[in-house]
This record gives sequence, structure tokens and C-alpha cells, in this order.
Amino acid sequence: MSTQQDTGPDKDGLFRTKTVEQSIRDTEEPEHALKKSLSAWDLTVFGVGVIIGTGIFVLTGIAARNNAGPATALSFVAAGIVCALAALCYAEFASTVPVAGSAYTFSYASIGELPAWIIGWDLVLEFALGTAVVAVGWSGYVRNLMSTNLGWDMPVALSGPDEGGHFDLLAFLLVLVLTAILVVGTKLSARITAIVVAIKVTVVLMVIIAGLFFIKADNYSPFIPPAEPQPVGSGLHAPLIQVLFGFDPTNFGVMGIFTAASLVFFAFIGFDVVATAAEETRNPQRDMPRGILGSLLVCTVLYVAVTLVVTGMQYYKEMSATAPLAEAFKSVDQPFFAGAISLGAAVGLITVSMILLLGQTRVFFAMSRDGLLPRFFSITHPKFRTPYRATVVLGVVIAVIAGFTSLEKLAELVNIGTLFAFVVVALGVIVLRRTRPDLHRAFRTPWVPVIPILSIAASLWLMLNLPTETWLRFAIWMALGFVVYFVYGRGHSRLGREGSKAEY
Ligand code: ALA
Repeated sequence: MSTQQDTGPDKDGLFRTKTVEQSIRDTEEPEHALKKSLSAWDLTVFGVGVIIGTGIFVLTGIAARNNAGPATALSFVAAGIVCALAALCYAEFASTVPVAGSAYTFSYASIGELPAWIIGWDLVLEFALGTAVVAVGWSGYVRNLMSTNLGWDMPVALSGPDEGGHFDLLAFLLVLVLTAILVVGTKLSARITAIVVAIKVTVVLMVIIAGLFFIKADNYSPFIPPAEPQPVGSGLHAPLIQVLFGFDPTNFGVMGIFTAASLVFFAFIGFDVVATAAEETRNPQRDMPRGILGSLLVCTVLYVAVTLVVTGMQYYKEMSATAPLAEAFKSVDQPFFAGAISLGAAVGLITVSMILLLGQTRVFFAMSRDGLLPRFFSITHPKFRTPYRATVVLGVVIAVIAGFTSLEKLAELVNIGTLFAFVVVALGVIVLRRTRPDLHRAFRTPWVPVIPILSIAASLWLMLNLPTETWLRFAIWMALGFVVYFVYGRGHSRLGREGSKAEY
């Protein structure tokens, strides 16, 4: 007799898996179903909407100044290659298992419950902190605009820790407003997203085209600045790879390109978020791969061009760490362009924050539907059909985090979490090809297992280039996740419960 769940040979174990058919069937239960309203175009807009953000608008300046100079353009190429490899794996998974939850769902269907939990917990880190990072970046641009154009300065106490204050009021309010929009529904959010994406892409193209006229060849020399020792006492901030191999920690040089790559990697985060919307896509089999690969390609080209232009306009050591694109234009006496860029960034970062928040609520929703988190969170709203409870609870928590935290270190933590997710997804592609060769795959990753193995190696390489302190923070977060799983998730898992019921 066939049971409702195929829990595999490991029914009670940490590696029990949910079948792909079961994952898809779950999405059809009315009170847990999301509306299927997104097309390939919506997904690409969605992708570009979340990908272009704080990474290119803020982190480019920090990476060029501190780690790689004009060679930051190469860092974007390196990070782009890592993402393209991961995207090829994501696209196969997203087109095979078209349900909410991204890498979490994929690993549940392929490797097992504990790895799925680990990845879900890890994605919570990526999306929640990513939302907060971008909200803080947005707040900085808005304060900058108000101060430059209206002559009105936000009181320091309400300007957030990056500016020596206590609480970032604007970042806090932004997250709350976005939460309300998401409760009302994805379609409405997608429309707003499309408008804002158009503004953002226009600004990026403006930087590239207008900036071309102000490039000075001297600024490219040296293109790869020579290695410099890191300041004494920055021990834990040294990349793990340098610590492991006992190098004296350095900035710049060839290694600096990879250090910068592990930071600007943040600029690519988001194509994986497209995969979290699979369940809300009309034709996921066809549209997911198009949406993911399309948005990644567009963004990589734009990033390399923007970086070459701004490092050509301004000497890398003089670049701003807060608004480098606008400041590059100020440095060549073009205040009009500088103002327009700041305005575009302030508008554009809103969508980034919103889509990360959406991804976050969907992962939480999927974990809750599976019983690994309380089921309370996965009841959808009777009218809006959105997972409103998860959205509201998480929105408030993230708003508070955004109010009290600073930017760069959080971005590094987000990166390590995301790269780790890439490793698991690539592993999942290999495993699922062996365990379920029969499944229909609308998109097949080429050269399996070569591409997934290269993806794993490339992601691990970038992880190793992140600071030691980031690894420590990540380890603490994951340890906490293990506690939650063994105290709550394992016992409440729907798969575990239905699996044991089916035995009678
Ligand atoms: N890639 C997004 C950004 O750069 C998260 O803001």
C-alpha cells in the first residue's frame, strides 16, 4: 500500500526526505495556498529589483577603497562567476520543485530534513539581515538627500549606529511600511516593484553613460594596487584563508580582489530569491530558469561597467564609503548627476528591501507548513491569500534589527549564509539526479556533476575569503538553529508525524 509520504528508508531519522510530489501537493491545500500570479517578466523584474541595491550603490566604494582599487571590477566578475554556477543549479531545482521556500524546499526533497532545516535557518539569516542591511543603506541615502537638498539634518540620536546615533528611525519605519504592503499581496507589490526597478536601472545606466565622459586614465594606475599589510590589531577581521595558511593579513594585491569579491558578492544576492517565488509563478517550469539567469546576466554586465566607470572617475583611495556613485560625480563637479543618483538610490533600495522581506516570509512560511516552525505562521489570509502572520511577526523583528544595527559586518554575515546555501543547493542537484532520475526537469543543469562541483568549490572559496569573525558569528547562528530544531522542529515535523502514522 502506498503511504501519503515517502519518508525513505530513514523514516524517523535526520535524513528523512519529503517527496517532490508531496511538496507540490502541499501547495494545493486551500488554506495554505499562495496565489499563482507571476509571469517570467514579473520574475525578471523581481530579480533585477532585488539584485541591484546596496551592493553596487554602497559596497563598491568600500571594496575599492579598502581591498581592491579599480580591480574591484574583477571582483564583480569573480563573484558573478560564483553566482552563475550557483544559478545553473538553482534553476534546475526551482524548475523541478516549484514550491515556496527556495533552497530550503529543494534540500528537503533531496538531502533530508536536518540539512533542509539547516538551510532554512540559514536563509532566515540571509533574508532577515539582508532586509535590515538594505533598509539601513536606504536610510543613509535619504538622510543624505534631506541634508543636501533641504538643509534638514536628522537628529544624531535617530540616525542609527553608523553615524554615532542609537536608533535608525527611517530604517525602522521603512521595514514596517513594507510589511504592510506585503500583507496586502504580491501582485500589488510586484507593480510597485516594476516602477521602482525602472527608476533604478535608469540611474545605473546614467552613471555608466554620463560617467564615461569623466574617466581619467591615471586613476586606473595601478589597476591592481600592491598588497599592503592590514593594520595591527585587526586580527579577527582578516580573511579566514589568510589565517588558516598563516599569511600576514594583507589588503589589496591579487588576494585583495577575492576579499573584495567576498564582500561585493552581496550585490548579487537576490537571484536566488526569484526561486522562492516559484509557487506563485504561473508556469514555473518554463519561467523560473529564464527569470533567474536573465536577471543575473543583466546585473553582472551593469556592475562591471559601473565599477570601471566610477574607479576611472575618482582615485580609489578617495572614494566614498557611504555614497560612492554620487560622490564620484561630485568629485568631477557634477552636482546635478550626484543628486539624481542619490534620489534614484533612495527609491531603488526600497524594492530591494521589500523583496528580501518577501523571500524571508516565504521561507518561514514553508518551514512552518512543514511543521518545523509553529503552524500558526503558515495560515494564509482569507482575502489576501498571503502568509500574513509570518509577514507581520518577522517584519516587526526585522524593523527592530534595522533600527539598531550597522551595515558592513551584517553584509558579510549575509554573504556567508547565502554562499552556504549555494553549497547545499549544488549538492542537492547531484543527490536528486541519483535518487530521482525520473523527475521531469524543465531546466537541466549542464555537465552534472562537474558544474555543481565547481559551484561548491567556488562558493567555498569566497566563504574562505570572509573575515574570521564572520565565520564565528555564522557558527553561533547555526548552533542556535540546531537547538531550535532538536527542541521543537524534530518533534513537530509534519513529515515525521505523518510518516509514523502511515506505518499503522
Ligand atoms: N543584491 C542586493 C543589494 O545589493 C541585496 O542590495
